[in-house]
Amino acid sequence: MAVAEELIDSHLDDPSGSGYHILVAEVDSTVEGYICYGPTPLTDGTWDIYWLAVSQQKQGQGIGGTLMKSAEEKIVKAKGRLSIIETSSTPAYEKTRNFHVSHGYEIVASIPDFYAPGDDRLILQKRLR
Ligand SMILES: CC(C)(COP(=O)(O)OP(=O)(O)OC[C@H]1O[C@@H](n2cnc3c(N)ncnc32)[C@H](O)[C@@H]1OP(=O)(O)O)[C@@H](O)C(=O)NCCC(=O)NCCS
Repeated sequence: MAVAEELIDSHLDDPSGSGYHILVAEVDSTVEGYICYGPTPLTDGTWDIYWLAVSQQKQGQGIGGTLMKSAEEKIVKAKGRLSIIETSSTPAYEKTRNFHVSHGYEIVASIPDFYAPGDDRLILQKRLR
């Protein structure tokens, strides 16, 4: 949470210069999800989706998909061409992986035992144009 908050603070301190873009999903004036993304430094048109989360009680209702689509539209408008997401290989993240794959992402690399022994770092990409 501390790392996630750090990126939100960077955005709030300098919305246009921080390199972190944030979209928030509100339901009845309550924040129920957010996505944090930004251009990957030293690349030409590659963007990272850094964080995507929906509150537990609101998951499975389309909020994550809407956040993802909105971010991708904004990335394309900013001339982005490639979107990258990283996640864990553990069974706890199976639904998350399914979510990414159903949104057109494919696993292009993995780093074995990256997060912990038996917990690989999966790198997924989607060509946006
Ligand atoms: C992954 C996540 C952002 C998806 O958001 P969401 O609002 O639940 O997703 P949507 O309602 O738009 O889409 C639902 C689809 O996502 C998948 N999914 C992923 N996590 C899910 C969950 N906890 N509950 C229901 N569906 C989930 C399912 O495959 C589902 O597909 P289906 O409708 O064919 O069953 C959200 O579940 C979440 O915050 N999970 C915990 C944090 C996380 O893993 N973040 C990503 C880190 S890389």
